[in-house]
Amino acid sequence: MPTTVALLVAAGRGERLGHDRPKALVPCAGRPLMAWSLDALQAVDAIGHVVAALPPGITAPHGTLGVTGGAERSHSVRAALHAAPVSDWVLVHDAARPMLTPAIVEELHDVMASEDCDAAIAATPVADTIKEAAGEVVVRTLDRSHLWAIQTPQLFRRDALERALGLGDAALAAATDDASLIESFGGEVRLVPTTSQNFKVTTPEDLHLAELILRDRS
Ligand code: CTP
Ligand code: MG
Repeated sequence: MPTTVALLVAAGRGERLGHDRPKALVPCAGRPLMAWSLDALQAVDAIGHVVAALPPGITAPHGTLGVTGGAERSHSVRAALHAAPVSDWVLVHDAARPMLTPAIVEELHDVMASEDCDAAIAATPVADTIKEAAGEVVVRTLDRSHLWAIQTPQLFRRDALERALGLGDAALAAATDDASLIESFGGEVRLVPTTSQNFKVTTPEDLHLAELILRDRS
C-alpha cells in the first residue's frame, strides 16, 4: 500500500465566523475545532504523518508537525507540503470540516488504488438548482445532474500536487481548491461521493450545527 502524509490546513483567521481566536482553535463540542478532524486522520492506518499549517505562534497539536501557514489557503498547503516527510500520496484536509470520518479517507484511498487518476476528492451532489447570472439577472439554469459541491479531504499523487503547487503565487491565490490546479494541466480528478454532513464551518450557524452533530456522535 502506498504511504500517505496528511496536510491539515488550519491557518485561516475565520473572519466570517467572527470569533476572538482563529477558527481552528474555536471550541466546538468541548474541543478545539481542529481536534475533531485530526482524530479522524490519525485513526487511518495509511496515514503515517500529519503536518498542520497553523496561524503564527500556535503550538502544533500532539502527534503533528506544525508549520506556519501563508496568506492564502493554497500557500498554507504549499508550506505544509514543503515540511512533509517523504510519501507516495498526500491528503489535504480543511480543519474547518470537523465531521470528517476515517471511512471517507479510506474511500479516497480505495479510489486512488483502483483508478489511474491524479486525485480523488470528496464531493456531494448539488441539491439546489444552480443558475448562472450577470449581476442579478439570470442568464441560464445549469443542469444540476452534472454538478457537484466539492469538499475536502482531497487525496493526490504527490508528484501531481507538487507540480500544481509549483504554479506560482498568483495561480495559487486564485484557486479555490487544490484539485482545480491539477485540472488546469489536464490531470485526472475523480469524485468520491460523500454526505453533505462533511460541511465546512464558515458562519456561527454552521458552528452551532456542527456542535449538535458532534455531541450527538460522541
Ligand atoms: N486556511 C489556511 N490558510 C489560509 C486560509 C485558510 O490554512 N491562509 C484554512 C482554514 O484554516 C480552513 C480552510 O483553509 O481550515 C478553509 O478556509 P476557510 O473556511 O475560508 O477558513 P478561514 O480562511 O479561516 O475563514 P474566513 O475565510 O472566514 O476568514
Ligand atoms: Mg478563507
